[in-house]
Amino acid sequence: MARLAVGVLISGRGSNLQALLDACARPGFPAKIALVISNRPDASGLERAQSAGVPTRVIDHRDFADRPAFETALTAALADAGAEAVCLAGFMRVLTGGFVGAWRGRLLSIHPSLLPLFPGLHTHARALAAGVKLHGCTVHLVSEALDDGAIVGQAAVPVLPDDTAETLAARVLAAEHQLYPHCLRLLAEGRIEVSGNLTRLTGAHRADDTRRLINPAPNDR
Ligand code: GRF
Repeated sequence: MARLAVGVLISGRGSNLQALLDACARPGFPAKIALVISNRPDASGLERAQSAGVPTRVIDHRDFADRPAFETALTAALADAGAEAVCLAGFMRVLTGGFVGAWRGRLLSIHPSLLPLFPGLHTHARALAAGVKLHGCTVHLVSEALDDGAIVGQAAVPVLPDDTAETLAARVLAAEHQLYPHCLRLLAEGRIEVSGNLTRLTGAHRADDTRRLINPAPNDR
């Protein structure tokens, strides 16, 4: 089976990019990374791509008059690389409806909260302030509204009594690194059926795991 060619857009350290690179390097994984684009020349994620032998481009949004002009350059680079889908991985620019519409159903993003809770920034501090006992991350298809597209997958982690935003972020990030490649695989296998703002998985999947994550954990286990 031909592997899905993916463009990854980053702005920073690229630890999710690394998880995607690692997954794509595994035999039999149904996607490959054709290009990594950063809007910031100093993004350390660029080195991760280079170490993995993946082509990189810097397309600095500050070099363009407006968002559409910036996105035209992104689209041209993605087309040059033969990208068939796009993963946002810590990409800190808002995309317009034009770009989102052109990639609809083929544009994934990861967000560090259990959406629809805590869209936007500072999700870990906000989760702590809200006193939630479970937190996590979401991979979703990108829509015009910020952090609001159809949810593909989620991973939950407990919020522990002594957590700071930093310790909680680290726990969520480890979950992100597991969730994102898994969801990319589902996209690449063509198993995400979208209906409005909902997704449904086609084909067989593990429905046998109905364990609960209870936090605080009951003592009788
Ligand atoms: C991650 O927490 C991701 O969920 C959010 O931005 C962060 C990017 O981290 N969108 P990295 O660049 O992948 O390490």
